[in-house]
Amino acid sequence: MKNTSINVNLIPTASLPGYELWSIGLHAKSGGGCVDCHKPYVRDGAVKVSNHWLRSPLTNVNQARPTCHRQSEEALQNLILTIQNRTAELLRLSEEALVDAIEAIVAAQEA
Ligand code: HEC
Repeated sequence: MKNTSINVNLIPTASLPGYELWSIGLHAKSGGGCVDCHKPYVRDGAVKVSNHWLRSPLTNVNQARPTCHRQSEEALQNLILTIQNRTAELLRLSEEALVDAIEAIVAAQEA
């Protein structure tokens, strides 16, 4: 941002974008929580335990997609990447629109 004189406290911040995107999404509405994808169940012999290696579900799609997703590993991975790219693009557009709005406010204040 070019102009630093604007009060940054007035700029809304998305401090936990991952949580916010999840909480307004289909997974939250369907009762899917963080651990369903990030700590999926694994079999250890006869025992079923939750995986404590907290990491990207994309690194173990087949474990992380519970019974909810029936499509192939590749199809699900492609779907995730498409949604991520689309979301990133929308976030970028929002950022640019926000910066344009701030610059217009500053220009109006200085006029
Ligand atoms: C439906 C499955 C699913 C659920 C539910 C879920 N996540 Fe994720 N999460 C993902 C996927 C997929 C990624 C992207 C991983 C990648 O790009 O490598 C991700 C990425 C993340 C990241 C990496 C940083 C980021 O924002 O990209 C964090 C941190 C995270 N999730 C935390 C959470 C928390 C906290 C919750 C619960 C509030 C949650 N996740 C719920 C699937 C899920």
